[in-house]
Amino acid sequence: MSAKLISGKQLSLELREKLKKDAEAFTRESGITPGLAVIIVGTDPASTVYVRNKHRACLELGYYSEVHELPEETTEKELLSLIASLNEKETIHGILVQLPLPKQISEESVIRAIRPEKDVDAFHPENVGRILLGNYRFLPCTPAGVMELLASAGVDPKGKECVVVGRSNIVGKPQALLLLEKNGTVTVCHSRTANLKEHTLCADILVVAIGRPEFITPDMIKPGAVVIDVGINRTPDGKLVGDVAAGASEVASAITPVPGGVGPMTITMLMKNTLEAARIFAERRA
Ligand code: GUN
Repeated sequence: MSAKLISGKQLSLELREKLKKDAEAFTRESGITPGLAVIIVGTDPASTVYVRNKHRACLELGYYSEVHELPEETTEKELLSLIASLNEKETIHGILVQLPLPKQISEESVIRAIRPEKDVDAFHPENVGRILLGNYRFLPCTPAGVMELLASAGVDPKGKECVVVGRSNIVGKPQALLLLEKNGTVTVCHSRTANLKEHTLCADILVVAIGRPEFITPDMIKPGAVVIDVGINRTPDGKLVGDVAAGASEVASAITPVPGGVGPMTITMLMKNTLEAARIFAERRA
């Protein structure tokens, strides 16, 4: 058996086309162009590519985009001062600080400094709390993209055994909440989980975001499971591989490719959140 591929590339194209129309209609009615500011500190190659792709996506959709490239040695004070000015800027509705940050800067302080109404990553404690309570403004981009991929494949988490491997604040934890919100029965596994395979073998829906190349092997997957591979890892010979080993597609009923699976969806969800942030701005101004 070979699994059906759940293409994030294709779904992203469709969603971005719709977002573009929605954004155009919003701008016609409100006179406001959605605006996103992305800040990158340092020159991490992967982060540089992500930031460039975010900027390109903005331009494709007709959004206003600002990219602030700060040197590696930027102080926390300098970064907080830039965020404070963007918080006040009327043409900017979404602010994203690319993570990770250099060690002299506290991620927590930076995330807290972003106005919650402009926090299109949904990392601010206020937005995280809202998600926990089921009353959200924005959903975090990667987990929201995963939910869209599942929906596009006709997979409803209701009543299913959902296993999330990884417990990061960016993916694993919010992913578990979103699956729970959709009435899945959710287990979160992590680096200290005993008998990981025992858990993953129960999963009807398996979401893997552990950041280790080909960590989940075919023998850990329940036949017929739907597998979402959030990982993007570069091997020593320069190849991109996921957190799930290639043979998984012989066991799963559906699986996301790497690249072209979750990756493009993350940016699409960021574009959706930026339009939502512009709507929030328009409503507050009215
Ligand atoms: N670094 C890796 N993923 C993300 C993300 O979703 N948002 C931000 N800001 N940084 C990241």
